Amino acid sequence: MAVEQGEYVLIAGANGSGKSTLARHLNGLLLPTSGEVRIMGRPTHDPEDIMEIRYAVGYVFQNPENQIVAGVVQDDVAFGPENLGLDPSETRIRVEESLRAVHLWNLRERSVFALSGGEKQRLALAGVLAMRPRCIVLDEPCSLLDGAARKGILDLLAQFNREHGTAIIYFTHDLAEIGAARRVVLLAGGCLVADGRPADLLPEAHLLKSFGLEAPPLAVVGELLRSAGVLVPRRALSVKEMVEALCGSG
Ligand SMILES: Nc1ncnc2c1ncn2[C@@H]1O[C@H](COP(=O)(O)OP(=O)(O)O)[C@@H](O)[C@H]1O
Ligand SMILES: [Mg+2]
Repeated sequence: MAVEQGEYVLIAGANGSGKSTLARHLNGLLLPTSGEVRIMGRPTHDPEDIMEIRYAVGYVFQNPENQIVAGVVQDDVAFGPENLGLDPSETRIRVEESLRAVHLWNLRERSVFALSGGEKQRLALAGVLAMRPRCIVLDEPCSLLDGAARKGILDLLAQFNREHGTAIIYFTHDLAEIGAARRVVLLAGGCLVADGRPADLLPEAHLLKSFGLEAPPLAVVGELLRSAGVLVPRRALSVKEMVEALCGSG
């Protein structure tokens, strides 16, 4: 499997399907015991390139506690750029930009210990954004967020993908987090079992269920309607599309 610069891929799998394991191979946190993983054409097992790979591929952990390194919000975001040896003025610009992007600018002087789980998840993302990576790998980054905060993160990822060409590789068990992904890869039992466009894979309620994934509710409705002889298109996956399919758009 290959991901190109500027792609936005959702990699979905049930618990235990191998999401975190695969995600960790994408910036050399884990090294393959056979075969190889190449980032920008370079194998991750070559220690000479590992720092370059880590700078190019930002990683947002499932548990934000694993990546918060400083005691104060803005110091945590500054840590990465400072380690890159950037000019302090450039670091300041990046810290402000990243904290504003995740709506934590107002909390910049707060102790990280006083943040909620969802705020910590957003802080972890800000730390990665400040590195301006070519690719962001996220391992269930919205698990601690409510619906509105989740939408905020998905919109932000879509924006970075669109405006900066940042590749997004988003791991989740929840297909409702499809966001602006234009490709879906399914994992089951440590193997890649499907790879296609959202419009082709998301309506496959049966297939998704067989891999332990919850199909989008309207995909289930569509399958039931079709098996009862009501011809609704497979691609009617939003309420609006389903209503139009059933009642006509007029
Ligand atoms: N390709 C694989 N081959 C063998 N074991 C794997 C593979 N991928 C994952 N595993 C093992 O499966 C278990 C669950 O993997 P994990 O990556 O934590 O799943 P998830 O993040 O989807 O819940 C772990 O013990 C991991 O070592
Ligand atoms: Mg996991």
